[in-house]
Order: sequence, then structure tokens, then C-alpha cells
Amino acid sequence: MSPVPTLQDRFGRRVEYLRLSVTDRCDLRCTYCIPEGFSDFEEPAQWLSFDEIERVVGAFARMGVSKVRLTGGEPLLRRNLPELARRINALDGVKDLSLSTNATQLAKQAAALKLAGVSRLNISLDSLQPDRFSRIVRRDCLEQVQNGLTAAKEAGFAPIKINMVVMNGVNDDEIDDMVAFCIRHDFTLRMIEAMPMGETGRNTQYLDLQPVKERLQRRFGLIDGVMAGGGPARYLQSPDGAFTVGFITPLSQHFCDTCNRVRLSVDGTLFLCLGQDEKLELRPLLRAGASDEELEQAIRGAIELKPHRHEFNEHPGQVVRFMALTGG
Ligand code: GTP
Ligand code: 5AD
Ligand code: SF4
Repeated sequence: MSPVPTLQDRFGRRVEYLRLSVTDRCDLRCTYCIPEGFSDFEEPAQWLSFDEIERVVGAFARMGVSKVRLTGGEPLLRRNLPELARRINALDGVKDLSLSTNATQLAKQAAALKLAGVSRLNISLDSLQPDRFSRIVRRDCLEQVQNGLTAAKEAGFAPIKINMVVMNGVNDDEIDDMVAFCIRHDFTLRMIEAMPMGETGRNTQYLDLQPVKERLQRRFGLIDGVMAGGGPARYLQSPDGAFTVGFITPLSQHFCDTCNRVRLSVDGTLFLCLGQDEKLELRPLLRAGASDEELEQAIRGAIELKPHRHEFNEHPGQVVRFMALTGG
């Protein structure tokens, strides 16, 4: 049997996780992400079509990428997303298809996405208080999101992870409420440190999550945990395994040494790191009729450019793209 091909970077890290942004648009304007009046989104002519996406993901899958996550912007805004999910899931080598969403449109789409082969859902939720939630996302829609969560449970997604960006003086007093909410609903809570991506990210009230981790560890007697997924979260769980909490700490304890992923943005730009500028434009290649071999060769070349790590602490002004432009 021939060996399974792999994509490996200069630092010996295996790339096996593709984060695929299907739109840079979003129906929310979270204070840490898209600036309020921003409208300079990619035009539809620049978006990769489903056929183009399928070709690129197929190339990655042939080179050993087995995990694909649909992201945005808000991925559920891309028309016919379940159809794209079905096509990606059918590709040889794709073993784990997941989705990150703000859940505003999830009540309508959860069942179709499950049927299409999406197995795991990560859902952004920074507050359970309607007024506060509206201030953070700049829209009035907590009820819609909660209906999305209910639909996700009913559709049978497992695990469902809740992504909470914890901000100093904004929602850090809600951590215990979020813990209780997630225990009640059998969700996995993940707390995330705000990253200085774009003006919005830089102006966010960063909170170091290490003291939070220690406090929760003591309070619940948590031990090291494991959880399905391929991302950078570090998990703790209760000794009976009933509750798991994850910490995504790019600033206080970065995880770049084990980085296993790259990002494809809606216009076909392959970003090698969330916090650096190295990239390769795949769209011109696709539209110039590149062969599968040429595509694979270009991707292998790009992986060589993958930087060692981000420099959010050393150079917080470096990344001018806010998250939705790169793909979350
Ligand atoms: P799992 O497969 O469930 O582990 O997913 P994930 O945690 O990789 O995906 P998700 O979209 O839920 O990511 C949550 C957040 O983690 C993102 O919005 C980012 O804030 C952060 N994150 C994910 N990947 C990276 C990364 O490569 N670098 C950095 N610095 N942050 C990341
Ligand atoms: N810092 C950390 N996470 C961010 N996200 C967007 N912008 C930032 C930022 N500046 C992530 C959050 C959110 C998802 C949509 O994108 O995890 O839940
Ligand atoms: Fe990987 Fe860059 Fe994220 Fe570090 S910041 S984990 S190198 S993508």
C-alpha cells in the first residue's frame, strides 16, 4: 500500500486542517471583528465558485488534509451551503467536516447541514444577557441565536462548542453563568482571548485567561481533558467527564508549535497564518486552467512559506485584516 501523502512545513508541522471561508460577509458587527460602517466586502465575481472550492479542497485532501471547517464571515449567509457541504464531505480523504457560525440562521439550516455531512458545530456566544449581547454584536438577535442552538441540539450535532471571546469589563463577569448554561445544555464552553486583528481587534479589552483557567480548575477540581476537534483549544474536564471547558489563548500561551492548519479565504487566497501576511492567491491559477498537478505543486510551495508563529504580543499593530477578512 502506498504511504498516505502529507503536507509538512519547514518546521516539521503537518498541515491536516483546512479552514474554508465561504463568505467574508456577516449579519452581525461584533465589536472585536467587523467595523460598524464597513462595506468593502469581496464582490461575488471574486468568490470561488462551489466547483472551484471543490477542486481546491480535493487537492488538499489528496495531500493528507482530512479536516475541513466551514467559516466566514458568517458561513450560513452563503447560498446553498448544505450543497457545498455535501460535495466536500463526499471527497476522498475528508474525514471531519465542521462549521463555525454565529447561529442567527441556524434554526432554518441545522437539519439540512447535518444531513449534508457536517458533524460538529462551533457557535459564537459572548453573552446570555440580551442587552449586553446586542451591544457586543451590534444587532438585536439573542433569541434568534438561542433558537439556533436549540435546533442544533435537535438535529443531533455532537459536540456543540460555544465560543466566548472573554473581554475585560465587558463580559468577564458572566463566565460562571456561561459555565452553568453549558453544563445545563451539554455544550462545551470555550473561552477565547481577543486577538489584535485590525483596529477592532486591537481596541478590544483583552483579558489574560490563565487566571480564569486556574480559578475554574480549583473550583470544579478539573483535570486535563480531551475533546473531538483539531483546533488550538486546551481542554479541562470534570473528573466524571460530564463537563469540558476549553481555552484558546493565542496571547497568554500560544499554540503555534503545534499549528496544523491553513486558511482559504472566499476569494481563493491561501493564508498560511492568522497573524502573518504570507499568502498565495489560488484564484488566478484556477481561472487560468491549472492542472491538478500544478495546483498541488502551488499549494506545496505555499506551505513552505508558513511562518513559525504569530507576533501578536511583540507587534500588535501588524495585522491590519480583521478576522472576517481572513476567515475566522
Ligand atoms: P475544533 O476543530 O473544534 O477544535 O475547532 P477550532 O477551535 O479550530 O475552530 P473555531 O472556528 O471554533 O475557532 C475558534 C477560534 O479560535 C477562532 O475564531 C480563533 O479566534 C481561534 N483560532 C482558531 N484557529 C486559530 C489559529 O490558527 N491561530 C490563532 N491564533 N487562533 C485561532
Ligand atoms: N479575537 C479573537 N477572536 C476573534 N474572532 C473574531 N475576531 C476576533 C478577535 N479579534 C472570532 C471569535 C468569534 C468568531 C466569529 O471569530 O471566536 O466567535
Ligand atoms: Fe498557526 Fe499562525 Fe494560528 Fe500560530 S497564529 S496557531 S502559526 S495560524
